[in-house]
Amino acid sequence: MNLPPSIEHAIRQQKKACNQTLNGYMYHLAPMHEKITKLRSIMPNGVDIFYAMKANPHLSFLKAAHDAGVAGIEIASLGEAKRAVAAGFFPNALIYTGPGKTPEELRWSVDHNIQTVHLESLTEAYRLEAIAAAAGVQQDVLLRINTNFDIHEAQTTFSGGSRKFGVDEEQLHTVLPALLTLPHLNFRGLHVYAASGVLNVDDLLKNCALVFSLTQEIERSYPNIHCDIIDFGGGFGIDYLEHGADFDPELWAKGLQALIVEYGFQGRHFVLELGRYLAADSGFFCTEIIDIKESRGKKQVVCAGGINHFRRPAALNINHPMSIVRLGIEKLFNAQISIHDEAVYFGGPLCTGADKLANNVHIEAADIGDIAVFGLAGAYGLSMSNIEFLSHKRADEWVISS
Ligand SMILES: Cc1ncc(COP(=O)(O)O)c(C=O)c1O
Repeated sequence: MNLPPSIEHAIRQQKKACNQTLNGYMYHLAPMHEKITKLRSIMPNGVDIFYAMKANPHLSFLKAAHDAGVAGIEIASLGEAKRAVAAGFFPNALIYTGPGKTPEELRWSVDHNIQTVHLESLTEAYRLEAIAAAAGVQQDVLLRINTNFDIHEAQTTFSGGSRKFGVDEEQLHTVLPALLTLPHLNFRGLHVYAASGVLNVDDLLKNCALVFSLTQEIERSYPNIHCDIIDFGGGFGIDYLEHGADFDPELWAKGLQALIVEYGFQGRHFVLELGRYLAADSGFFCTEIIDIKESRGKKQVVCAGGINHFRRPAALNINHPMSIVRLGIEKLFNAQISIHDEAVYFGGPLCTGADKLANNVHIEAADIGDIAVFGLAGAYGLSMSNIEFLSHKRADEWVISS
C-alpha cells in the first residue's frame, strides 16, 4: 500500500509524542467527507444518504458525516442513538434498523420521536404499538423484508434463505394486514438490505429492480398502501484486495435513476444506509512490531495489537493493504531476525491461533520496533473487535486534520 505521507508523518509524530508502544487507529476524515459530498451531488432526486454508524461510531466520523450533510444516521442500538445525538444529530434524523430491539430501546425511540423504526418482526410491531399507544403518539415505521432473492457474490448477505432479519417475503400476506391494523404505527414503506461489500454495481441494481417489483406487487395487493420510502440498506463495497475493482457510485446512481423512471417511482424517497463505503479509507490501524520469529520455515511477526483491536482480517480471512513505517530501532541482540523482501505472517499477542492480522503477505523490509500499518481500516475496525479478550489496553484512536 502507498501510505499517504501525511499519515506516515502523523504516525511518526505520535510515536515520538507518546514514547510508548504504539497501537491504535489513525483517522483522517477528508476521504469520508469527500465521498459524502460526491454522493450527494450525483444521486437522483429523492435519495437520502444516511451514515450506518456501526461501521465506525467514533465521534470524528459522526461529525464528518454531519458536516458533509448526510440526511441522518442509521442506528442499531440505544448506545448508537445516544452517541449520534451527542455528535449533534437531532433524534428525528435517526432511523433504527436491526433485530432484537428491546422495549427500552423502542420506548426511547418513541419518546424522542425518531424518524423511522424499521420493523424486523410482527412481535416488534406489536411491542412498538403498545409503547406508542401508551405515549399517545404515532410512530413512522418501515417493514424490513427478507426477500427470496440474494446477491451471491457479496461478502456478507442479509436476505434470502432463513434469517433473523426482517419478515420473509412469503409471510407478507399475514404480516402486512396485521401491521396495518395497529393504529399507532404509520406504515411508510419497505426496507430491503440485501448484502454488504458488493463491488458489482449490476448486482446491486438488480436487487433494486426486484425491490421495485415487489413494491408494485404489494401496492397492487393492498390498494390502500403506498410505500413512499424504500430503504436499500447499505452495501456499496470497498476493494480491500486492491484489484482495481472499486465500486462505481456514478454508475449505480445512473442505474437507479433509470429504474425510477422505468417503474414510475418519481416522488418517492429512497434511503441508503452506507457504512463501509463511507468510512473504510478514513482509517489506518497502526501497531508496533514486538517480535519477529522464525517457526518451521515461516516468519511470524508478533504485533502489539491483534484481533482484540483489529479483528476484521481474521474474521473475513483476507489481508488488508499494508505498509511498514520504519523507525530504525536499534537491535536488542546480534542474531535478531529482520524481514527482507519476503512473505511473512502477522499476528497479535492473544493466546489463540485465530489471532491473525495478515497471512503470507509480502514485506519489503521490517524490524522489531517498526510500525505495521493496515489500510482501509476505518470501517468495522475497532467496533468489530474482541476488545475485552485478554484485557489488553484498548487501542488508541487519533484524529488528524487533513
Ligand atoms: C441494517 C444495516 N444497514 C446498513 C448497514 C451498513 O452496511 P455497509 O457497511 O455494507 O454499507 C448494515 C451493516 O451490517 C446493516 O445491518
